[in-house]
Amino acid sequence: MNIIDPEIVQTLVQKERVHRSIYTDPAIFDLEMQRIFGRAWVYIGHKSQVPKAGDYVTARIGAVPVVLSRHKDGQVHVLFNSCGHRGAIVCNEERGNVKLFRCAYHGWTFDTNGDLDAISMRNGYGPSMDLANPALGMGRVPRMESYRGFVFASLVSSGKSLEEYLGHARDSVDELCDRAPDGEVELSGGVHRYLFRGNWKLQLENIVDMYHVPFSHESTVSRSGKQFSRRPGDKAGSAISDRGRAATRWEQRIAWGARENGHSYTGNQPVAENFPEDSVFQSYVAMLEARHGRERTLQILRPKRHNTAFYPNMTMQALNHHIRVIVPLAVDRTEIHVYPLKLKGAPEELNQGFVRHLNNTHSASSLIQTDDLENFRRVQEGVAATGSDWVWFARGLDTDATDERGDLTNNGTVELPQRSQYAAWQRFMSAAENAMQESQ
Ligand code: FES
Ligand SMILES: [Fe+2]
Repeated sequence: MNIIDPEIVQTLVQKERVHRSIYTDPAIFDLEMQRIFGRAWVYIGHKSQVPKAGDYVTARIGAVPVVLSRHKDGQVHVLFNSCGHRGAIVCNEERGNVKLFRCAYHGWTFDTNGDLDAISMRNGYGPSMDLANPALGMGRVPRMESYRGFVFASLVSSGKSLEEYLGHARDSVDELCDRAPDGEVELSGGVHRYLFRGNWKLQLENIVDMYHVPFSHESTVSRSGKQFSRRPGDKAGSAISDRGRAATRWEQRIAWGARENGHSYTGNQPVAENFPEDSVFQSYVAMLEARHGRERTLQILRPKRHNTAFYPNMTMQALNHHIRVIVPLAVDRTEIHVYPLKLKGAPEELNQGFVRHLNNTHSASSLIQTDDLENFRRVQEGVAATGSDWVWFARGLDTDATDERGDLTNNGTVELPQRSQYAAWQRFMSAAENAMQESQ
């Protein structure tokens, strides 16, 4: 049953502003879990998190608990994390390795592909109990696909493929994976987890918000406007602000947003102004050159993108390379999981350096992410005030251009990425069920 009329939902997003209730109304949050997380391709995890048979990690698709598992035949599955008997959560840990999943309640066991293995005290059931009935297993989600190891799932059984859904945003995954000498990244460097008292969309907006940086992160910038070094070979850090404004170079970055599916990215500055001369970095460059040649290696080391938001729940950063998974828990409560990305085949010392840099920038006690977590708390408290019904995303609206794909592009500190996210929000939230499945 729809608790909110689609026509009313439609009015909550306008081209330059969104209604404050989308951050505070629990009924809207519930509808988002059904209509956005219940319909989109949602990021689940990476295959490198489950390298061996029996490995699993738990995740969620909105409110729905799931498990990413590696079966004994090597196949990766996304299963519902719910027992076929009375529905209890089967995997209660974040991760692990098992021969079989065993439900703690009455001891039913399941294979790592979700099939029922055995029910306990079988003799209490008569011949009418058909153990081959798939409804007694954990069940697999209707669709699962991966792109370069990144696994996504969808709760709708038909529609666009993952590649079509990701569209031009997919190139951000390529840019990052191509930086690995083996062409793959690994999520083997641990995870930072934290909770904030704010709506899930605040993190999604913020990751592609270049407007806030000179102000929110002022404490990370020296008097000359340069931030602390965040990359090898860049001793002084990059120029961010100039006398209270964004630095000119900052204003020249690209902003891009997909109106239909809500993905967005912000443009990058080079990985390094000058590639460092230390032997570890040089051996890494030599590995890339052996695989790709000099010219392509230089392209790879000067990626075009900085932050990418994959709508609705994953973000990727190319500088201190990591992904963030956004886990909405309630209208005013969100969990964030930050995974460093290691470049497979690169010298371990280099990968360790990436993980260390990320500790400085995006751990719970880091120099950058803490500023934004404070922003999220302040917005969440502030939007409850009744002075205005709206928040605004008008910056750059008059200069947005449309590219050959029909997506939006602009430069600098514009709020175009957020406008794209809310165009997708409106599409997901207001479309009728059947029409949406067909257009997915
Ligand atoms: S609920 Fe899982 S065995 Fe009963
Ligand atoms: Fe920030």
